[in-house]
Amino acid sequence: MENIVEIRDIVIEYKLKKYALRAVDGVSLDIAAGKITALVGESGSGKTTVASSLLNCISSPGEIVSGTVRRHTGPNEVTEVEKLGENALNEFRWKQISMVFQGAQSALNPVVTIFNQFYETMVVHENYKPKSERKKITKQEAEQRIRYLLDFVNLDADRVMTSYPHELSGGMKQRVMIAFSLLLDPKLIILDEPTTALDVITQDFIFKLLQKVNREMGIAMLLLTHDISVVAKYADYMAVMYGGRLMEYGTVEEVFEHKYHPYTRGLIDSTPAINKDVGLLRPIGGEPPDLLNMPAGCKFHPRCPQCKEICKQSEPKTVTMETGHRVKCFLYEDEA
Ligand SMILES: Nc1ncnc2c1ncn2[C@@H]1O[C@H](COP(=O)(O)OP(=O)(O)O)[C@@H](O)[C@H]1O
Ligand code: SF4
Ligand SMILES: [Mg+2]
Repeated sequence: MENIVEIRDIVIEYKLKKYALRAVDGVSLDIAAGKITALVGESGSGKTTVASSLLNCISSPGEIVSGTVRRHTGPNEVTEVEKLGENALNEFRWKQISMVFQGAQSALNPVVTIFNQFYETMVVHENYKPKSERKKITKQEAEQRIRYLLDFVNLDADRVMTSYPHELSGGMKQRVMIAFSLLLDPKLIILDEPTTALDVITQDFIFKLLQKVNREMGIAMLLLTHDISVVAKYADYMAVMYGGRLMEYGTVEEVFEHKYHPYTRGLIDSTPAINKDVGLLRPIGGEPPDLLNMPAGCKFHPRCPQCKEICKQSEPKTVTMETGHRVKCFLYEDEA
């Protein structure tokens, strides 16, 4: 399986005045070409921070303390994201990977028409290329591309191109953002909680649309969500985060079948949309971890129904099973 990017042992901290807040600790993750990978976990588990590291755009004062983010630029060519120059990084940002940030609809410029926002991005992007490769983009050329993309996300291109953001509904704006993320033909789109603040019917519509983008255009997706029922329905692979750690990774089928990690099991067993029998719903007890006051040992141990003595003292390593499935829990040490 070809990967678009590979994260290895990454540690990310927010350097605050009095202390450093370690938001991500030792995460390794491959993003497979052409597939939908979901990064799932409670709010504050480090999803946005990990995803931002793929583009080297972690919000200030965050920084990568150790580890690497490598992108595959050709069959035998690998480049570390941190080593790209500013222009190459900007080109990489849109062309290889684009990110739709959480609440991105509100990032649309309120005083510029949708057409001009797309067009300006296309023009600006040319400037990131080496001089010899730059070309002038005419409005006619741009219009063709923009029309195609707005059609693709089921928007009325004639109407939307000439509109200002406030003239569109929340769901329409999110579709505009998806079309926008496709503008420069990326290999991977990162979507950070893409349907928060939208009603349930619109949410479903947006996910079906994302699935169409993935299947028909072959574009890979990294979907950040706290909603495990969305993962079950739309993703190919899933990575479960807890307190800045990656606790479990595998195909969606395998994770749901085995629920190896007690936290994953808790997430699945407490989700009504998956557990049709409400009598079987079991909420996870306890509170999400406080990053400034993390428990010793396994970070999930205060909430874990299967906690053993060793779990309170040391942190388990990640075990890789024969199928490639990975789990960070002492219960599976013997399977390595
Ligand atoms: N810019 C920032 N400055 C300080 N702390 C931050 C910043 N961004 C995120 N954090 C902290 O890092 C942790 C992980 O956050 P985040 O990656 O946003 O998690 P998630 O996306 O899973 O909700 C949280 O404790 C959050 O408060
Ligand atoms: S390592 Fe121990 S405490 Fe942590 S999830 Fe596994 S069994 Fe539970
Ligand atoms: Mg987030």
